[in-house]
Amino acid sequence: MKTVEIEPTFESWQAAARALLRDGVPPADVRWREASSVEQPLLPSEPSSAGGAKVPRQFLDLARRAAAATDPSRWQILYDTLWRLVHEDRELLKNARDPGVRRLHALLTPTAAEPETAGAAAFIPSGAGLAELKAAAARCKGCDLYRHATQTVFGRGSADARIVLVGEQPGDQEDLQGAPFVGPAGEVFDRALAEAGLAREKLYVTNAVKHFKFEQRGKRRIHQTPRASELNACRPWLEAELTLLKPEVLVCLGATAARAIFGDKFRITKDRGRFAPTRWAPKTIATYHPSAVLRGEDDAQKAELYGMLLDDLRKVARA
Ligand code: URA
Ligand code: SF4
Repeated sequence: MKTVEIEPTFESWQAAARALLRDGVPPADVRWREASSVEQPLLPSEPSSAGGAKVPRQFLDLARRAAAATDPSRWQILYDTLWRLVHEDRELLKNARDPGVRRLHALLTPTAAEPETAGAAAFIPSGAGLAELKAAAARCKGCDLYRHATQTVFGRGSADARIVLVGEQPGDQEDLQGAPFVGPAGEVFDRALAEAGLAREKLYVTNAVKHFKFEQRGKRRIHQTPRASELNACRPWLEAELTLLKPEVLVCLGATAARAIFGDKFRITKDRGRFAPTRWAPKTIATYHPSAVLRGEDDAQKAELYGMLLDDLRKVARA
């Protein structure tokens, strides 16, 4: 029996499942354990392959949604399904009566046991301007993240901004200082903005989730990726900001922000760097998150990621 530790995210499961599949480890020999902050491979590789084997896109979409569920057996169910898709029947998902397929689908139906957070909507005053929104957000209890964080980190910048940039969530420094992108990721961000010729005081910068989600490890607070339910709970704040600002250009920094705006089908490696109209802005684009640059494996990869971020921000500056 092999115990595999993963972060409770689709990406972490996928990386582990690929390796297991490549090594031919059958599902019955795997025990899945959730941990936070397991070393992650930085760049998600080809989204439609698993250990070299092609799997249907439909499975990846289902798996991504199932990963956001709370049932602790979901990782096992997902690997079981993946194994059977690769080794038994590529068309397995079409068989709605198969017990494994049914278990997979059951993960996607929220049950009464799942903590349903009411979300931020009830905390948003109608007719509020940006300053009032920010004040109201300071009192938000739309999900559980307010419990452990220091404060709400609302967006900051010019109310006349034509360009709005959205990150994932505040980090340790942002949580302490109460402003977005002021920590290490903020340094990379500021350097790239300056190089692209974008003046930060003319922009508006915010995050998809307004409270810092972390795991305490001794003195350190380790960033945790927000769940889909937390993203959904917090989305009304982002929507309220965007409704007031009506930006010409909207920039999503990283996969979480991109999914909040483009939906969960969005894949950063494939879909970044192109403008597309959304209901929020005629020119919406996604690029790498400045933290991805910091997490690069070596200097070469860091430089490459920074280069892509800068290229995309230059497109924004020209738009
Ligand atoms: N990362 C983010 O996504 N946002 C911040 O504000 C800081 C780091
Ligand atoms: Fe409210 Fe968002 Fe904070 Fe949750 S993360 S409490 S929804 S502001």
